[in-house]
Amino acid sequence: MPQILELIQDDHDFIRGLFDELESNPETRDVRCITLRRELPGHMYAEEGTLYARLRSVAPEEIQQSLNDHTGIRETLARFETIPLRDDAWMPALRDLRERIEAHFTSEEKEVFARAEHHLSRVSLFELSETFQREKGVAARSVAV
Ligand SMILES: [Fe+2]
Ligand SMILES: [Fe+2]
Repeated sequence: MPQILELIQDDHDFIRGLFDELESNPETRDVRCITLRRELPGHMYAEEGTLYARLRSVAPEEIQQSLNDHTGIRETLARFETIPLRDDAWMPALRDLRERIEAHFTSEEKEVFARAEHHLSRVSLFELSETFQREKGVAARSVAV
């Protein structure tokens, strides 16, 4: 798998692990929520500035659908964050957020990755990985402020 796709896959797996932990371990929920708040928007922001930007001209409908998914995830995350940890609505909201994210990750790993491997050279996929890391750093700093 070319470099940027590996980075994206690693992020997906890390975020899946966060959800496992959020569901199963009440003790660490507050810390994991902070990590999710940092990782998930940064991941989406970096995808938009790299892979999506490069694939937009060759697969406009698919990329538009992925951008719509990101908008939906951002809105669902914002609603989820208004629910207190001890509220009965918290776990259903967590599962709802997770389902939405999982559906998006799956479509990226199947369709968007295949597009990328087909349309972009290995060199550009490798170069994009550097930009991806940089954009994630930019996003993380803007959350921290
Ligand atoms: Fe995405
Ligand atoms: Fe992703």
